[in-house]
Amino acid sequence: MIRLKIRPMCREDIPEVAELDEMCFSVPWSAASLEGELDNELADWLVADLDGTIAGYVGAQTVLDEADLMNLAVHPELRRHGVAKALLTSLMLRLYDRGARSLTLDARVGNVPAVALYRSLGFEVAGRRKNYYEKPKEDAYIFRRELKGELE
Ligand SMILES: CC(C)(COP(=O)(O)OP(=O)(O)OC[C@H]1O[C@@H](n2cnc3c(N)ncnc32)[C@H](O)[C@@H]1OP(=O)(O)O)[C@@H](O)C(=O)NCCC(=O)NCCS
Repeated sequence: MIRLKIRPMCREDIPEVAELDEMCFSVPWSAASLEGELDNELADWLVADLDGTIAGYVGAQTVLDEADLMNLAVHPELRRHGVAKALLTSLMLRLYDRGARSLTLDARVGNVPAVALYRSLGFEVAGRRKNYYEKPKEDAYIFRRELKGELE
């Protein structure tokens, strides 16, 4: 079991989060885009802080009562320790508190870890977007779940 603190992302985290994003995605977010998110009043960004190192991060944007996941990643060397689950459960409670009642997200249909993660957390497939992703081109599953004010 590893010791983790889930906390809001701050400006000092940006270089490390950008580096991690580059490690995890073929089309990463730039540091400037991530920094811009700190001024987005509709957004919630959380990091998983493991003794001062960022093990993972997640971000979502809420409009009225609907939230959309913008990004989620965990450091390759720290996967399968519950970091993503901790980030997402913490995020969902936070989104509920700001008024969101559903969370929607996209995942590559071939992203086995992500698809298993979302299913394990009660998300269901609400649709499929043809050729949604680039590098490589791939369909997306649209996952959705309702949000509740407590953990299940
Ligand atoms: C998807 C990702 C965020 C999962 O992070 P993680 O911290 O390893 O996930 P967790 O340890 O919290 O896993 C929780 C559950 O998800 C499922 N899961 C996660 N990774 C899995 C894998 N490789 N194979 C099968 N199931 C998996 C399991 O049910 C797991 O519970 P268990 O370990 O008790 O069996 C991580 O693999 C990642 O960063 N991938 C690259 C970026 C990415 O694809 N992000 C998602 C974009 S939609």
